[in-house]
Amino acid sequence: MSSKSLLEYYQQNSFNPVPIPLEDRAAWESHFAKRHNLYERHLGIPFSLLQNCSILEFGCNSGENALVLACVGANLTLVEPNNQVLPQLKALFQKFGVTERITSLVTEGIDTFESDIAYDIVLAEGFLFALPNRDRMVQKIGKLIKPGGLGVISFNDRYGCLLEMTRRMVAWRAYQLQGIDNVHSQAALNLAEKLFATDFSKLKASRSFEAWWKDTLINPFLASEYHWSYPELIPLLEQIGCEFYSSSPKWTAIDRFTWYKNVSESSQRHQQLTENLRMYLPFFLTGLPPSVGETSPASSAVIDSLTNLIKQLSDYTVNWGISIEEVIYPLLLDEYLSQSQDSRLRQFNTEMKDLYEAAKYNQLDLLISTYQASNCVRSMWGAPYHYICFSKRADS
Ligand SMILES: C[S@@+](CC[C@H](N)C(=O)[O-])C[C@H]1O[C@@H](n2cnc3c(N)ncnc32)[C@H](O)[C@@H]1O
Repeated sequence: MSSKSLLEYYQQNSFNPVPIPLEDRAAWESHFAKRHNLYERHLGIPFSLLQNCSILEFGCNSGENALVLACVGANLTLVEPNNQVLPQLKALFQKFGVTERITSLVTEGIDTFESDIAYDIVLAEGFLFALPNRDRMVQKIGKLIKPGGLGVISFNDRYGCLLEMTRRMVAWRAYQLQGIDNVHSQAALNLAEKLFATDFSKLKASRSFEAWWKDTLINPFLASEYHWSYPELIPLLEQIGCEFYSSSPKWTAIDRFTWYKNVSESSQRHQQLTENLRMYLPFFLTGLPPSVGETSPASSAVIDSLTNLIKQLSDYTVNWGISIEEVIYPLLLDEYLSQSQDSRLRQFNTEMKDLYEAAKYNQLDLLISTYQASNCVRSMWGAPYHYICFSKRADS
């Protein structure tokens, strides 16, 4: 069963990738606290300033995130192509008594949505990266933001996904060695559980193992062409008169330790952002916060080698498009990490090399035992999912 789009993949597999249960007060408070943390502390958008703000949200699903914005007084235009989720959305807003905060609810995709007005904030969370025309859709979002307004999009980061893609490779190799052709089968789920259920149970995940497996290990839209990265996004933002505002995770050091009277050009900030990425690459790969001065910035060649590896992993894990022999842990990445002063990064590197080596043998037991012995890798998840918030120049 092949899906033409991420939306079709979710519909055909009848699963909600981001179930947000709001069945009781405690669940609502926990959800509200997470969104508050994301908006105020990570993205720097205070809830108190959202009162009467106009917000356009694409892909709101059943509306749990939009509900938080309604509850702090924002006026919402909601655009969602999957009409199966709309009854739930309407019931939710009714239950919380905020239906009047919905200015408009439109059943269509971002591609066809038209508007004569611009909005204070435009959101596209959890799907934009998987659209074939995503660059054009970023331009569209730019046009829909008022001058001085903000846009927020989320994406799977090309480098932050290394560990997810490595787990994916382990799963697909295990399927191959076990003779499982149908990666959507119960047998495939069982083997994934054998490999990863213990690690997954230690995460504070709100979704089930099965939902994670479908969304991460076998989702055809978690492939290299659907990954994005800050260096790819920044030029797109510049084209639409926008500037980097903030991100989650908060990883960049731009604007820090400087006097506000030293005003940087937008282009300088963007250049710093890309340089910062090379500095903080180990955080993207492992999820570990950096330890001061213990790893030097990655060279462009290291970044390129990583991009190649992600492409190989992606080709292998979309229907075994290449052979496992062609998936090669890059020497440059090995050299970069093995020279780190941080012993955790050196251990990570050693275990990754062992894992990529074990995958080449035709022995399922060896692959499983090597993964099980990778204590450092098993405790890490990288920094795969990012939010980037950008501001539109007030004069544009
Ligand atoms: C993974 S869910 C994310 C839901 C929510 N925004 C979140 O991040 O928790 C992706 C949502 O995007 C919607 N979607 C998919 N393709 C879309 C498109 N072309 N335009 C707008 N929404 C789309 C899906 O129907 C689904 O509701």
